[in-house]
Amino acid sequence: MSSETTEMRAAGITTVRSVHSLRAQLRRWRQDGDMLALVPTMGALHEGHLALVRHARGLAERVCVSLFVNPTQFGPNEDFAVYPRDEAGDAAKLEALGADLLFAPAVEEMYPPGALTRVSVPSLGDMLEGEHRPGFFTGVATVVSKLLLQALPDIAVFGEKDYQQLLVVRRMCTDLWIPTRIEGAPTIREPDGLALSSRNAYLTADERRIAPSLHRTLRAVAEGVLVDGADPIERAAWGEAELLRAGFDAVDYVAVRDAETLAPWPGPSRPGRVLAAARIGRTRLIDNLAVA
Ligand code: PAJ
Repeated sequence: MSSETTEMRAAGITTVRSVHSLRAQLRRWRQDGDMLALVPTMGALHEGHLALVRHARGLAERVCVSLFVNPTQFGPNEDFAVYPRDEAGDAAKLEALGADLLFAPAVEEMYPPGALTRVSVPSLGDMLEGEHRPGFFTGVATVVSKLLLQALPDIAVFGEKDYQQLLVVRRMCTDLWIPTRIEGAPTIREPDGLALSSRNAYLTADERRIAPSLHRTLRAVAEGVLVDGADPIERAAWGEAELLRAGFDAVDYVAVRDAETLAPWPGPSRPGRVLAAARIGRTRLIDNLAVA
């Protein structure tokens, strides 16, 4: 089978695996004058991802979703090998939503033998998540720059769930003159506040009961600094202790930061964001909220 024959209709949505086929399809739409939105994902799609696709559909005539579990953003001791994968299920969900194209390349398509180039966003990508997951944002920026240059979409949609990632991608596009508008979409949550995540599938029943305290604690931290005027550093330290009290095994960080630069939040004159990462058992959860 040639790589072209891997282009096929899975559950009715067209799936392409090569950059060549991707560009051929997108060229046809562009010739029709259609705007294109790209939604990058690592698959195992849940309602959070699907909300991004709906958001994208409201912004452009054509929506392409990429599905690629990107090895370069996983650390050596992280969950690349066991990351949930369900391409057929994902394709069916996208088909039902009316997405136009699924781009699901193999690792060798995105990182052909001999590929060396990496894209890094120092400072913004070295703090918080970057400090606890060295190399993570270089992996993200590298793969997202490849996807944007492969598809050249008018718009790309990212979730606020991964708030620092959204800022890193925006910075990268500005710095590299990548002419794609980066759109942020709100975090979709379970009724008890837990942000939807593919990694929630790792939680045991007991851990699942503890998990919503992450969102509750972030709310209490945001309220403390905004309404009660608490010191942001002291309030973040309180938040870390609160998470441990609630049953988390370890807290990587709780931080109140400037929503645009991620520098320490100077106070209500600037938009703020409270961000956190904490572990229960073998699962690491992240979340964030506007200080508003
Ligand atoms: P993934 O974790 O699959 O997430 C894909 C997109 O879905 C990201 O923009 C993420 O912020 C968004 N998302 C995840 N959970 C969400 C929720 N509960 N509500 C709203 N949006 C949510 O993030 C990645 O993949 C990768 O790093 C990627 C950008 C694809 C690069 O490999």
